[in-house]
Amino acid sequence: MAKMWSGRFSKETDAKMDDFHSSLSFDRRLYKEDIAGSRAHVRMLAKCGIITDQERDLILEGLKKIEKRLDEGALELPPQLEDIHMAVEHYLIQEIGEVGKKLHTARSRNDQVATDLRLYFKKTVLETAQLLVELCQVLLVRAKAETETLLPGYTHLQPAQPISLGHHLLAYYEMFSRDLGRLLDCLARADFSPLGSGALAGVTYPIDREMTAKELGFRAPAANSLDAVSDRDFLVEFLAAASLIMTHLSRLSEELVLWATPAFGFVELDDAYSTGSSIMPQKKNPDVPELVRGKTGRVFGSLIGLLTVLKGLPLAYNKDLQEDKEAFFDAADNLKASLSIFIPLLETMGFNRERMFAACAEGYLNATDVADYLAKKGLPFREAHRIVGEVVRQATFSGKKLEDLTLEEWQEFSDLFEADILQVVEIRACLEARQSYGGTAPRRVREAVQEAEERIRQIKEKLQDFLRR
Ligand code: ARG
Repeated sequence: MAKMWSGRFSKETDAKMDDFHSSLSFDRRLYKEDIAGSRAHVRMLAKCGIITDQERDLILEGLKKIEKRLDEGALELPPQLEDIHMAVEHYLIQEIGEVGKKLHTARSRNDQVATDLRLYFKKTVLETAQLLVELCQVLLVRAKAETETLLPGYTHLQPAQPISLGHHLLAYYEMFSRDLGRLLDCLARADFSPLGSGALAGVTYPIDREMTAKELGFRAPAANSLDAVSDRDFLVEFLAAASLIMTHLSRLSEELVLWATPAFGFVELDDAYSTGSSIMPQKKNPDVPELVRGKTGRVFGSLIGLLTVLKGLPLAYNKDLQEDKEAFFDAADNLKASLSIFIPLLETMGFNRERMFAACAEGYLNATDVADYLAKKGLPFREAHRIVGEVVRQATFSGKKLEDLTLEEWQEFSDLFEADILQVVEIRACLEARQSYGGTAPRRVREAVQEAEERIRQIKEKLQDFLRR
């Protein structure tokens, strides 16, 4: 098969060469964006008098047929066709003959691929953002129902202070809502059309870049032709945002894996999202969070891979840039798959409130409250801390909880203890006491859920704005 650029060559490329440099196996997924870009381009060429209206109509008609056949999977895409841009043009010429050869007037594959990618990128970011919104909504629903549920809070994975399960879930909501912000930010920065930048320096025809930018739904044409064809910052920004989303999912995954062990027993994952063992009949394995935790690494890999591709590139286009696509597609696919499965996983998992409550009785979660009690009576906090440390040491020795101590026993450590200490050490009282803004008292958590619901509503509106454009 002769290449479209074969004019200056005296022989055909080697089959090994075709296989090596072809991107068709992975850029075929850009065909809709490629055809959309071509449509906008020929309409603009006709409007600017560069081709005739009749030529435009023939090309549009041909593109429609090619798109239909690609939709149906009825076109072969062998590596000799090089990439999706060449393939569409090849079939167009086959379909409508000579006039098809006018499509590439005032255009290069360099501005073409950059345009296709940005279109695909925008679609992907919006799909990802919508999944994140759904995930946030599930977290809010579950948090709202668990504002009063007691859970041991940990630092160093050692029991620290009692918290509300709702508060814990809202911590993840905060992470994912920042992630949403990051996605929308990078969407706004990428919303410029490279089309009309030509190979690198602009084109010699009287084109209208505003027109193609508008038709393709971009805010404006990209300002510098050299930058427009070689910039992949938007993909790096997406991969960075994706890496953080995966990091957040992975941290949550780690907790779910731990919480699902018999030792913790805080959650029971729904059977529909769990697996068994081929040898051990008793097993129920948390494959979803494990796989998500595992996939996180490959998304980081895509980010580092693309940054490395870019770091040594002179302006403008270099074939190295073809390596951008697999990194982006793989990360986006795995990110979306992870979010899609996490939504029903979180929706359906059961919380074992009794186990969580029982775990709050271990590990002296109320010790800080006793120190605070003494400090509020005028003892310097450091001194209070030391006294409570002694209480805990003795209690550990005699196998008692702080709730088990009598007033007389408390008073052996300090005469500042009065009868109300017996209520102060109740675990639920410790939860209620953390009334500071952003704290875990159920009243605060209910407020936080309300604020979060309002914020998610605003983000949804912003998403709708993007979708309308
Ligand atoms: N397949 C190429 C890519 O993905 C398209 C651009 C090719 N441009 C070129 N000058 N060879 O980057």
